[in-house]
Amino acid sequence: MYNGNFDFDGGARLEKRAREIDSVLAALPFLGESGEIARLFEAMRYSLLGGGKRIRPVLLLEFCELFGGRTEDALPFACALEMIHTYSLIHDDLPCMDNDDLRRGRPTSHVVFGEAGATLAGDALLNGAYEVMLEAVVSAEDPRRMAKAAETIARAAGAYGMVGGQTLDMENETSSPDESRLRRTDALKTGALFYAACTAGAIVAGADERGVAAAAEYAEKMGLAFQIVDDVLDVTSSEAELGKTIGSDTASGKRTYVDFRGVDGCRALALELSERAAEAVGTIKGSEFLVWLARSLAQRVK
Ligand code: IPE
Ligand code: IPE
Ligand code: MG
Ligand code: MG
Ligand code: MG
Repeated sequence: MYNGNFDFDGGARLEKRAREIDSVLAALPFLGESGEIARLFEAMRYSLLGGGKRIRPVLLLEFCELFGGRTEDALPFACALEMIHTYSLIHDDLPCMDNDDLRRGRPTSHVVFGEAGATLAGDALLNGAYEVMLEAVVSAEDPRRMAKAAETIARAAGAYGMVGGQTLDMENETSSPDESRLRRTDALKTGALFYAACTAGAIVAGADERGVAAAAEYAEKMGLAFQIVDDVLDVTSSEAELGKTIGSDTASGKRTYVDFRGVDGCRALALELSERAAEAVGTIKGSEFLVWLARSLAQRVK
């Protein structure tokens, strides 16, 4: 029976996991390249190794562990997902998209490397992600399972997922989306990579259908809560705290959940969604950290 787990504090575990991801990312061989295209690798390093909460790769590792998988099997997929997420942020900040100049506490990629440099750094990170995943597939004891994890991430990152959501999001600047359209937008632009993180972790571990479905349910609720809080922070936080441009949504005329529910309504909705995420995995042995993480992200201030 799901008991709530209100006393658990996962802060140290989150920190340890995030630093684990940092060090594996920093050791990716192609990031050390120099020579004629050194500037491209510099731009890739600049965005990938320059901070970030590492939530998606942490989720992937944690769902793998929850279902009894090995961390070393999940790490390539966790790194690939963070590379895809980072590329999505570089492109999201471009002048043709959100036109933001601060990210992860530093000037955005296009401010430092120019629009072409930033676009290409994003392209290279995306392709690098597939390289890392396919290397893991090729060298796996059970390549079919690993290929399934890679396929899951690929579908969630593309037109049926994050890229599709970003498309809706851009169209929303010149239309007046209702709340259900906004929900569909957020489910894709943000929810899809959460879905990829949670279900790919479960798949790498060899979870059964029920396990993967629980991971998907957790991700769906968490992804939406995460974007709703992101929209709130765009209004309530500071650039020093958040490390990215504040007031960006208002400046670009983007309607967000805040327009429909207000700040307090959004905070309440995010908490409600995080409880539903917690319930999705709460009866599974060893889920305390994931329950804590859902609640903690819904209440985050950065
Ligand atoms: C920002 O994601 C983009 C959204 C989907 C809201 P994060 O808040 O996870 O950004 P980083 O990785 O910590 O910089
Ligand atoms: C971005 O949503 C989602 C992505 C797929 C990158 P936002 O545009 O709200 O993310 P931030 O606020 O710039 O991080
Ligand atoms: Mg955006
Ligand atoms: Mg943005
Ligand atoms: Mg935002």
